[in-house]
Amino acid sequence: MERTFIMIKPDGVQRGLVGEVISRFERKGFTLVGMKLMAVSRELAEKHYGVHKDKPFFAGLVEFIISSPVVAMVWEGDSVVASGRTLIGATNPISSAPGTIRGDFGITIGRNLIHGSDAIETAQQEIKLWFQEDELTSWEPSNKGWLYE
Ligand code: RTP
Ligand code: MG
Repeated sequence: MERTFIMIKPDGVQRGLVGEVISRFERKGFTLVGMKLMAVSRELAEKHYGVHKDKPFFAGLVEFIISSPVVAMVWEGDSVVASGRTLIGATNPISSAPGTIRGDFGITIGRNLIHGSDAIETAQQEIKLWFQEDELTSWEPSNKGWLYE
């Protein structure tokens, strides 16, 4: 079963949107297999966004991610990587579709509430970066037969 890494960024936590975000992934039918509230170290933030290290927004992005706690999660389900990105919406919330998390709750790109892995391979790397193996729990939701054919 596919897994993705989802992080509620400091703005999402500060604005009281943790429950809202979890609820959207739950209602979609995905399964939560790991979750922790944490203060992010500079080293972890820099590694996580390493692909953007040469971009002009990198330094500000790292400062933002370490400025206040985040909620790190792993969600599981069919096509959860791509579907998670759809639930989250386009990077710039001012043009994210209504009905998406960023579209419903955000205004500017530097405060876009949530991160989601952008590919299956990236998801695997990010899950390893953020979680120890024993922090993830594999379990079978009792409603599975009502979600999948
Ligand atoms: P994320 O990695 O956080 O899920 O976001 P994303 O894939 O939709 O967008 P990405 O291109 O990976 O950018 C990572 C994060 O960097 C910040 N950003 N700021 N000021 C800017 O022009 C700018 N561009 C990107 C955003 O927080 C974005 O989510
Ligand atoms: Mg990204």
